[in-house]
Amino acid sequence: MDPRKTVRKAIIPVAGNGTRFLPATKAMPKEMLTIVDRPVVQYAVDEARQAGIEHIVFVTGRNKQVIEDHFDDTPELMSSLSRSGKTAQLSELENMLPVAGSVSFTRQQAPLGLGHAVWCARDLIGDEPFALLLPDMISYGAYGCMAGLVDLYSSTGGNVLGVEQCAPEDASKYGIVGKGISVPRGFAVTEMVEKPRAGEAPSNYYLNGRYILQPEIFDILHEQPRGAGNEIQLTDAMVTLAERQSFHAHPYEGRTFDCGCKHGFIEANVAFALDRPEISDLVYESLRDMVLSHERRGRAA
Ligand code: G1P
Repeated sequence: MDPRKTVRKAIIPVAGNGTRFLPATKAMPKEMLTIVDRPVVQYAVDEARQAGIEHIVFVTGRNKQVIEDHFDDTPELMSSLSRSGKTAQLSELENMLPVAGSVSFTRQQAPLGLGHAVWCARDLIGDEPFALLLPDMISYGAYGCMAGLVDLYSSTGGNVLGVEQCAPEDASKYGIVGKGISVPRGFAVTEMVEKPRAGEAPSNYYLNGRYILQPEIFDILHEQPRGAGNEIQLTDAMVTLAERQSFHAHPYEGRTFDCGCKHGFIEANVAFALDRPEISDLVYESLRDMVLSHERRGRAA
């Protein structure tokens, strides 16, 4: 195995039900909820592209067709924008249109867990290392987290994981890694555990939904029994792969918003809105007024 084989392809799993966002997600995929004016899934695609990914494999499910439409051409809309001189919107749509043949879609037929979703993409990935981006987790910072993983991978090869530090009481919500020796831009991973019980986490470095994995993970996933939550867990398969291949972690210097929960989704909207010059002053003033009035009501109560 060439440890530095280029990472050309990425998997973005988009098959989840989004029950935490019902009723908004009754007829619309959770990945199409908007952060300011872009759907959640667009942020993961942009981050993958920024990291040099050439081909994206979406693992979809029933009722997710609109995601496929979002990454397709819209000739009628484009000509209408062109006729009405809306050049900014037109060029934005042109820039986000994937090159023909650079996206694939496959379906996860049953919700058997993240490990199973990744396994569903095995034929489309083939025998090469790949990136994996969980679209609920949105990177916010000077650079996207995946670019940092690719950077670390260029010196370590093997498998590389995005991590961040969480409050100890939140460790049981995530996959947690143990910290070994430091390397430039990261550290060696000593152990991995999916959703550890309170007090059993090896550290507070949690998996933030960004991975570079070697294709040998697919054979392991094929045999992987169900783990936490009665689902086929990717982390459990990574533990097996770690017996024969290296795993390093890249601590992301930005911040990841967990848009799979309401609180993280709202925070992401506020953070990205405050970065948009055309609305940032208005958003800031409204927020400040809302916070002050909220505090006044709290004091009066
Ligand atoms: C998954 C992974 C977990 C990771 C998390 C990040 O969990 O299994 O290791 O920390 O994503 O969002 P899930 O959110 O599917 O429960």
